[in-house]
Amino acid sequence: MDIGIDAAQREQISNGLSKVLADTYTLYLKTHNFHWNVTGPMFQTLHLMFEQHYNELALAVDAVAERIRALGFPAPGTYRQFSALSSIREEDGIPKATDMIRLLVEGHEAVARTARGAFVTAEKAHDQPTCDLLTQRLQIHEKTAWMLRSMLE
Ligand SMILES: [Fe+2]
Repeated sequence: MDIGIDAAQREQISNGLSKVLADTYTLYLKTHNFHWNVTGPMFQTLHLMFEQHYNELALAVDAVAERIRALGFPAPGTYRQFSALSSIREEDGIPKATDMIRLLVEGHEAVARTARGAFVTAEKAHDQPTCDLLTQRLQIHEKTAWMLRSMLE
């Protein structure tokens, strides 16, 4: 395989993308969980909004995993691997609706930080497709974090 990025750099980039994948998958599950279990006066709004968010995240994990494959490495795909790689903690029990919003803000911010870390490696290697993908992910996570944060003011 020769796409103009050496194997060591492709591996480093894949490792960074694997962390983004694990964070995104964990945030996907958290968002779906909150869609199912949210209660209170904001139920209708949050139930529907969380559905939009988890649908977007479900598409995103596929794009990230397939970029890892295009770089020549296996994509992590088990709960054990995701749990080891993810920077996002899982919740015990069912948080209150406003706590759900706050936890999702923190989750989107966490994915943004992980994506920024991966971007540095990709940029050094002139890996434009990965930089493009990560830029799109950063835009979505930062925008979603802002929208969720705005509900808490
Ligand atoms: Fe549903």
